[in-house]
Amino acid sequence: MGLDAEYLRVEVPAENLASAIPLLQQGGFQGWNCTLPHKTSMFSLVDRVDPTAADAKSVNTVRVEKGRLHGFSTDALGWRAAIDEAWKMDLEKSRILILGCGGVGQTLARYLAQTGCRSLLLVNRDLGKAKRLAQELQSTIPGRASPRVIEWDSKELDQALQETDLLIQGTSLGLKKDDPLPMDPAKLARGGRLYDTVYRKESTSLVQAARKHGYQAEDGLGMLLHQGALSFSIWTGQKAPLEKMREALLLAAGRNP
Ligand SMILES: NC(=O)c1ccc[n+]([C@@H]2O[C@H](COP(=O)([O-])OP(=O)(O)OC[C@H]3O[C@@H](n4cnc5c(N)ncnc54)[C@H](OP(=O)(O)O)[C@@H]3O)[C@@H](O)[C@H]2O)c1
Repeated sequence: MGLDAEYLRVEVPAENLASAIPLLQQGGFQGWNCTLPHKTSMFSLVDRVDPTAADAKSVNTVRVEKGRLHGFSTDALGWRAAIDEAWKMDLEKSRILILGCGGVGQTLARYLAQTGCRSLLLVNRDLGKAKRLAQELQSTIPGRASPRVIEWDSKELDQALQETDLLIQGTSLGLKKDDPLPMDPAKLARGGRLYDTVYRKESTSLVQAARKHGYQAEDGLGMLLHQGALSFSIWTGQKAPLEKMREALLLAAGRNP
């Protein structure tokens, strides 16, 4: 696109984030993405937050504006674009279950509670985390899809999976090849779809297992692509070259572009 810019990777230990920010600015960075474990801390370190970041309570994209930091979150809209591209499903009419209420699970739950869905179930290994999230959503977004909490690995969960149109896998299980599956995909209702937010070079074991059982399943590569494209537009003010980015991403993942 003729832009005189580079996108580099910088590793910053969690405890050094605040002191790294002035160095990034002195180094001439016009903006950055940040990922695990920095998104929540970055939220409190920027000067101003966009509504996307305020809704997510997290920042994954920063634009430097005359020395001040403007924080955005492209995770939810990137996820939505990936879902629309994969399935064109009507989320407002869908029964959705989120497995994992860490950073990404919380962001997507807040998004779905705002935009609406037929029902929203929250499941997390640490039950208290899921309960706190449900409480927050009930009090901040009254009237919208009242979320319900279900215990991890329970009979109630097996039943709920039979009444789920879309399962969002938001735990970090699957990042490592030998991780156990976060759930048994065969327990999903026939016709249920599975979106695993985790991505690796090859499809995650959960996506592979779900497809083997005949389910439509996608991994988090599409979400990564679309949240990156949204970040690109935030920094440059230009439409992202989505197909070029997709091609580069698939090539880097060793998949057929
Ligand atoms: N595709 C994308 O663009 C994209 C964007 C963001 C994130 N992600 C993916 O989302 C994943 C989670 O990120 P995050 O920011 O939400 O991380 P996080 O805040 O650290 O949350 C981790 C989640 O995984 C659960 N978990 C971890 N180990 C577990 C285990 N052994 N058994 C059951 N649950 C376990 C945690 O449950 P507890 O609360 O019980 O510990 C928590 O719900 C990442 O691995 C990343 O791949 C993808």
